Amino acid sequence: MRLGIVIMAAGKGTRLKSKRAKVLHEIGGRPLLWHVIESAAQVVPPHDILVVVGHQAEAVQSTVGRAGVRFVLQEEQRGTGHALQCAESQTRDYAELIVLSGDVPLLRPETIVALRDFHLRQQAAMTILTAAPENPFGYGRVLRRAPGAPEVEAIVEQKALDPNQETVREINSGIYAFQREKLYNHIARLRSDNAHKELYLTDMARILSHAGERVVAVEAADPVEVLGANTIAEMMDLDREMRLATARRLMDNGVVIQRPDTVVIDTGVEVGADTVIEPFVQLLGNTRIGSDCRIRSYSVLEHATVADHVLIRQSCVVAESQIDKGARIGPLAHVRPGCHIGEGAHIGNFVEVKQTRMGPGSKANHLTYLGDAEVGTSVNIGAGTITCNYDGVNKHRTLIGDRVFIGSDSALVAPVVIGEGAYVAAGSIITDNVPADALALGRARQVNKPGWAKNRRAQQEARKLAPSRG
Ligand code: UD1
Ligand code: CA
Repeated sequence: MRLGIVIMAAGKGTRLKSKRAKVLHEIGGRPLLWHVIESAAQVVPPHDILVVVGHQAEAVQSTVGRAGVRFVLQEEQRGTGHALQCAESQTRDYAELIVLSGDVPLLRPETIVALRDFHLRQQAAMTILTAAPENPFGYGRVLRRAPGAPEVEAIVEQKALDPNQETVREINSGIYAFQREKLYNHIARLRSDNAHKELYLTDMARILSHAGERVVAVEAADPVEVLGANTIAEMMDLDREMRLATARRLMDNGVVIQRPDTVVIDTGVEVGADTVIEPFVQLLGNTRIGSDCRIRSYSVLEHATVADHVLIRQSCVVAESQIDKGARIGPLAHVRPGCHIGEGAHIGNFVEVKQTRMGPGSKANHLTYLGDAEVGTSVNIGAGTITCNYDGVNKHRTLIGDRVFIGSDSALVAPVVIGEGAYVAAGSIITDNVPADALALGRARQVNKPGWAKNRRAQQEARKLAPSRG
C-alpha cells in the first residue's frame, strides 16, 4: 500500500487580517506549515508529502522548500474540495491519501498513524479525524449514523447548521484519510451552492456515503491537538500550548523551569539537565544550552550556543554567539552576533560585544564596548574601555594579546595591536601599536597648581564686600 500525504495550505487566512499568508504565521517560533510538515515527515518520506499552495505560493514554497516536499499549485482558491481536485494528477501513485490542514499545527505523528491504521482496518473510503472540544463553535460538525457508531452521514459547516444540529459537539478536525480512487471517482460531484460559494471537501462525506461507500469517524485522543488557527487569538492559544509542551519536554530531561507559564521557548531548543531557567526568559531559534547553567530573569537568547556551568544574569541579550564553560554574562550585557566568549570569561554590566573573541579567563566587567576585537587569555579590560572600530566608512580590528591590562576609560583606535603582557594607562587614547610588556600612556600630563582654589574663593569673597558702584 502506498500512502501519500496532502497538506492543504493555499488559503489566504482572511480572518487573520494579515498581509502574510496564514500558514506562514508562526507558533513556537516556526511557521504553522513547518509544524505540519514536521509531523507528516515522521509518517512518510518527504517526497510523498504534497503541499497545496496558492496564496503567496512563492513565499510559502521558499519557506518550507528545504524540507524536500513536493508542491501542487491551486492558482485560484475555490475551497478545500478544489484543493484536492488540483492534486489529482500528482497523487496517482498512491492507493491511500491522508489529508492535513496547514493551519492545524499541533497534530502529533502518532495521531496521523492512528488515523491511518483505523482507516485501513475499517476499509473505509473516507475516515474523518474528529474531536469534542469544550467549544465547538466555528467548526464543521460530524453527524454519525447513530450515536457511537463509526459510520458518518455527513459533515455540516457551522454556517449551515440547523438549530438541532448546533448541539452536536463532535467537530471535523479538517484531517482525513481517503481511498484515493474512491475520492477521485466522486470528487466531480462537489457543488459550490453554500455560504462561501466554495467546493467543500467536507461534502465528500455525504457524497461518498450516499454512493454506498463506507465513511467513518475516529476521535482524536486529545482535542487540543486538532485545534485550528483561524484568528490571531486562536493562534496565540496554540502558541502557548506548543511552548508549554516544549517546556514540559525540557523539564522531563531534568531542566528546572521555575515558571513555565512565563518563559518563551521555541520548538527545537535544547537545554541540559540541572540548568535553571528563571521566570520571563526567552530561548529562541536554535539555541543550545548545556547542563548546570543558570539563566536569570528577562534574558533573551537567540541562536546562542552555551556550554555547561554558565551564568547569564538578569536582562542580557545574547544573539548568534558561543559562550564557553563557566563564563559569566551580565547583568544587562549585550552579546551581539559573532562573539565567542571563552571559558571562565566575564562580560559584566553595560558591556556590549560584537564580532569579538574573548579568550579564556578574560574580563570586561563594566561599561565597555568591544567590537571586532580579538582578546587573548587572562586579559583585564578596565571599566569604560571602548574599541573605536569604525572610521565612518570601514570597520577595523583590535588585537589584544594575552595578560594585557587595559586601564579604565581607554579608547583603542583600530586598527591597533596591544602586545602580550602590555599595560595601557587609564584614560589613554591608543592610536599606535603597543609593544609586548610595554606601558602605553596616551593622555595629557596632569598639572597641579598649589593654592589656586583657595585664592579663587578669597577673590570671590572680596568682590561681595566691595560697595556697589552707581
Ligand atoms: C475547515 C473545514 C471544517 C473544519 C475545519 C477544521 C471545510 C469546508 N471546512 O474549515 O469542517 O471543522 O477546517 O479546522 O473544509 N485551503 C486551501 N485551498 C482553499 C481553501 C483552503 O488549500 O481553496 C487550505 C487552507 O489554507 C487551510 C485549510 O485548507 O490550511 C483549511 O481551510 P480553512 O479555510 O481554514 O477552513 P475552515 O473554515 O477552518
Ligand atoms: Ca481553518
